[in-house]
Amino acid sequence: MNPIAYHDRTKHRLDGYAAGPDTLDWSMQPDPFRTYKGTKRIPLPLPEDISAVRGNPSVESVGSLLQLSMGLSAWKAYGPDKWALRCNPSSGNLHPTECYVLALNVPGMESGLHHYVSLDHSLELRCAVSWEGETRLFFGLSSIHWREAWKYGERAFRYCQLDIGHALGSLRYAAAVLGWGLCMIESPEDVLGTTRMEDFTDAEREEYDLFLEADLGAGINGFPEIRMNEWKGKANRIDPHPMYTWPVIEEVAHSTRRKMPLPTRTGGTAMNGIHAAKAILGRRSAQRFDPSHFMRNEIFFSMIERLLPGNAIPWDIWGFEPKVHPVFFVHRIEGLEPGLYILPRNDNASLRQNLNRDFLWERKGPLYLLARADCRQVARVVSCRQAIASESCFSLGMLAEFLILASDPWRYRQLHWEAGLMGHVLYLAAEAAGLRGTGIGCFFDDAFHEFLGISGHELQSIYHFTVGMPLTDNRITTLPPYPERRMT
Ligand SMILES: Cc1cc2nc3c(=O)[nH]c(=O)nc-3n(C[C@H](O)[C@H](O)[C@H](O)COP(=O)(O)O)c2cc1C
Repeated sequence: MNPIAYHDRTKHRLDGYAAGPDTLDWSMQPDPFRTYKGTKRIPLPLPEDISAVRGNPSVESVGSLLQLSMGLSAWKAYGPDKWALRCNPSSGNLHPTECYVLALNVPGMESGLHHYVSLDHSLELRCAVSWEGETRLFFGLSSIHWREAWKYGERAFRYCQLDIGHALGSLRYAAAVLGWGLCMIESPEDVLGTTRMEDFTDAEREEYDLFLEADLGAGINGFPEIRMNEWKGKANRIDPHPMYTWPVIEEVAHSTRRKMPLPTRTGGTAMNGIHAAKAILGRRSAQRFDPSHFMRNEIFFSMIERLLPGNAIPWDIWGFEPKVHPVFFVHRIEGLEPGLYILPRNDNASLRQNLNRDFLWERKGPLYLLARADCRQVARVVSCRQAIASESCFSLGMLAEFLILASDPWRYRQLHWEAGLMGHVLYLAAEAAGLRGTGIGCFFDDAFHEFLGISGHELQSIYHFTVGMPLTDNRITTLPPYPERRMT
């Protein structure tokens, strides 16, 4: 199924949601942790003092990077229920994204491909590799679609892609904390072992998504010449009793596999370490907002600045032209009139032609004011009537340019990754400013399009987001992420 047909079919509409399960039994939730039985398990260190491990690649710094990106950030408890949170957010906290590390000659680590298990912060050696050369470090991401499809049905492929965008952002910021660059590179599609049917005989398949190289100081040099033939381990089954099947997910996954080469990246990687560890570990989604809080103007505009493309983190991760444009519902920002605003992230003139002809296009810094209005009601309605979209300081929808899908259907995934990256920038910027964000995957696609005067498929909304002053639920207890482990 081509991605545009999939996108249309999985729209939530005011009169009905995309196809999904009729009922959910939470006690039957798929296992959120994949493991490979028969692999060597290596516990990773949890360095307390990141500055001591920064810069030099070692098992400690890799441990730190994984903790700050894909690791657990807390356990939460409410009554008899207990659930883990991670540094990377995920739709419904279902975590379809799996992370792999290819470490070559990293001090303290066996060279080879490892699978990361966030539950106990350990690695499983999937394939040992012999390597005599210099130290190199790579990361790979894949998705277990069923984890999301279990709850969200056909729309789940979109959520898996948005989650990959957040995982990309998580890895990029964590690499920066360690003083490293990170960049998407070409790799063989079977590098993560996800195409080895024999290792998934009784387990849900994983879909390869992307591969990254860390710039440890010697630049980005591309996929290394290695032989991978010592595979170990069998994947665990995450759902013994699946109640539904959603074949369109595999169909769209198939039609959106990458065939075109990645664009060359211009400019280097931003290597200057950022001191974001506190915001990364503290990042949470707000579940409710203070509906009277006004956000400071300069905080808002510094967030906007970070959404703009360039060689800054995290946009140095690839060489793609930006194709996703946020449209803001501004509710309460000091010195900024409430209304509808857009941040064009490239100079595509057709953006203007595709939106309501009555819009004002009055310049406000990098933004354009489209209409003065109290948008709370409409923001809430288009975001599946969720109050988090109206009680925050601002919320937004992200419009993606879909024309590129005709020549390269894989960009459907990449556009969602770009949107997920934007969400991640906002999550961390909000956290650092004492505010909070929440990703919004549930929105009424065409209701939002109609509101903006969009018809046709040139621009489509692919993700919504909201930022404000959170109200915390004190009934929920927070516990440490790795209570059994001593920090080294
Ligand atoms: C792609 C995506 C879509 C999401 N959609 C919603 C949503 O529609 N409504 C909501 O309340 N939270 C939404 N969330 C927030 C998740 O529920 C949250 O990330 C997850 O429960 C983990 O909690 P944490 O972010 O505090 O770690 C979304 C998150 C992501 C990454």
